[in-house]
Amino acid sequence: MEEKKNKRIIIVSVLFGFLAAFPFMAVAGFVYLRYGRPPVATADTPFPYEETIVHIPLDARIDRQLTAPPFGPTADNLIAGAHVYVAHCAVCHGTPGQNSTFGQSEYPTAPQLWAQKASGAVGVSDDQPGVSYWKVDNGIRLTGMPSFTHILTQQQMWQVSLLIAQAAKAQPAAVTQIFTEANSLRDRSEAEQMQGSVPAPATSK
Ligand code: HEC
Repeated sequence: MEEKKNKRIIIVSVLFGFLAAFPFMAVAGFVYLRYGRPPVATADTPFPYEETIVHIPLDARIDRQLTAPPFGPTADNLIAGAHVYVAHCAVCHGTPGQNSTFGQSEYPTAPQLWAQKASGAVGVSDDQPGVSYWKVDNGIRLTGMPSFTHILTQQQMWQVSLLIAQAAKAQPAAVTQIFTEANSLRDRSEAEQMQGSVPAPATSK
């Protein structure tokens, strides 16, 4: 009898302990956010294991929804992909021979898809095209990576995904030409802005 009563007291105290902990945790959480100076600027140090924690659910979701390309990386598809890339991706992900300072100034940074990584692979050439397709189609939450589902057709999203999967290989001459023109256009417009021939935007204040 006595033993049963003791057991009940223990259970009730443990339950009470749990319930009482919630308000403390909420208050502690608020105090940390308000006064603990967590990272907010792009240059701040990341939280410990931030990248790993964010990528576990992302990779799991992509694994579940992975699809295969409906066509192959023919020259026509790569050329179409290069047009899409220059118009919609280069600003953040760079082009062959030109990394994007804009993309590297984001947090998380936009990976430079034509640059060699520490692993030796170029950009996402070590990912299946379906993995990049998922990211282009859905975007990546809480990063600068937009969803292109309302911007590009499925065909265009596959074409650009096939193109970046081939980043380590030699491209058809027409693709190289598209990138060369895009790079020189950007060089020229940057040079013009430096010389002041393009009016600087009016500053407010
Ligand atoms: C406004 C900037 C921006 C634009 C425009 C943009 N992206 Fe991204 N993208 C990002 C950022 C930032 C990340 C990194 C997200 C992360 O860390 O998870 C990213 C990630 C990716 C990844 C995953 C890279 C990796 O290493 O796993 C792929 C693939 C990708 N983008 C493809 C594209 C393609 C293709 C386009 C054009 C159709 C595009 N992105 C347009 C910012 C951008």
